[in-house]
Amino acid sequence: MKLAIVKERRPGEARVAASPDSVKRLLALGFTVTVEAGAGSGSAMPDEAYAAAGAAIAPDPQSLLADADVVLKVQRPTRGGEGGLDELGLMKRGAVLVGVLAPHADPGLLQAYADGGITAFAMELLPRITRAQTMDVLSSQANLAGYRAVLEAAHSYGRAFPMMMTAAGTVAAARVFVMGAGVAGLQAIATARRLGAVVTATDVRPAAKEQVESLGAKFVAVEDEEFKQAETAGGYAKEMSAAYREKQAALVAAHIAKQDIVITTALIPGRPAPKLISAEMVAAMKPGAVVVDLAVEQGGNCAGSRPDEIVLTGNGVRIVGWSNMPSRIAVDASQLYARNLVAFLTPLVDKGAAGLKIDVADEIVRATLLTKDGAIVHPAFAGQGG
Ligand code: NAI
Repeated sequence: MKLAIVKERRPGEARVAASPDSVKRLLALGFTVTVEAGAGSGSAMPDEAYAAAGAAIAPDPQSLLADADVVLKVQRPTRGGEGGLDELGLMKRGAVLVGVLAPHADPGLLQAYADGGITAFAMELLPRITRAQTMDVLSSQANLAGYRAVLEAAHSYGRAFPMMMTAAGTVAAARVFVMGAGVAGLQAIATARRLGAVVTATDVRPAAKEQVESLGAKFVAVEDEEFKQAETAGGYAKEMSAAYREKQAALVAAHIAKQDIVITTALIPGRPAPKLISAEMVAAMKPGAVVVDLAVEQGGNCAGSRPDEIVLTGNGVRIVGWSNMPSRIAVDASQLYARNLVAFLTPLVDKGAAGLKIDVADEIVRATLLTKDGAIVHPAFAGQGG
């Protein structure tokens, strides 16, 4: 079976879907692996390293995709004239596509996969079950994004994080507030603590409180009856009532005014990001304070954040809105992502048979499979076609 790794062409994407290490593992699974020339250049993975691992190098995406049985991607393939190349159009009928396919991002996309006869798996739809942990691309990438968000904040902050007692005077420790204590938020808390900041955090899921405290940060939230119920069976946040949001906003407003750094990571799957910081709250912040809005791509948690910009407000607050934070730590992000994909493919490989074994009764397959045999099969999207 021929497996292809294409160079990512979407703007600002430095990651790649395979590493020299993952290539070795893919070969051991029985694939032949071809990597597009330069695919790893944004992740410090040169063609020679892939070749040394046993991959063939293809000079262009046309020859690579024409006969690929399995295509691994970070972001969804380009189609139509996007980025000057129609990756989807180059794929052969019956090919298996695996990546973060953002099925909500582009309404015609799933039908295009179905029409192209593509078997498409969206990795971000993996269920959060123990068996899927090694495949969990959202966790591997969010963890690094949380780490990097703190470094971006430190970079934009004109002061130090740790308390320093020097002959010339004392430097106060930075106050860091992390909003949303999921995978990214917890890593942000740990990173800010390592840098010596005084850290507080909030979340709407009650389970987050203990996790925040175990990292040495203080938990700040309205802990009423609604809060106690606010977790879905899948472990995700629910959208909170207007009344709760109002109480939470009042608590947060007073707290934010005293912070030097605020890192927002709050998301609700399939919904726009909750608005947690209003323009008034930003206006009440200290000059020199920094907000890093990790939810900027989903509409943002902070008023005034703009994708891929650092916005300087009238009162001297910087709002950092890098939309693709994992790409800013691309080497590790690619390594972990590539390992996630190997873990995902491993149970699908039918040793001895020519193709992949796609068992739609399997919970992981059912949750991630978007299209198969010319149809949209995912229950959340079926009926969306035209
Ligand atoms: P996420 O990326 O969907 O959201 C980030 C955080 O924002 C969450 O903690 C969420 O509760 C919080 N949030 C949402 N609305 C908020 C609001 N209005 N105010 C404050 N915070 C708000 O979540 P992520 O990082 O994907 O994690 C979700 C849960 O799944 C966590 O409990 C995590 O530990 C768990 N998880 C479980 C795994 C497994 O068992 N295999 C793997 C990875 C994560």
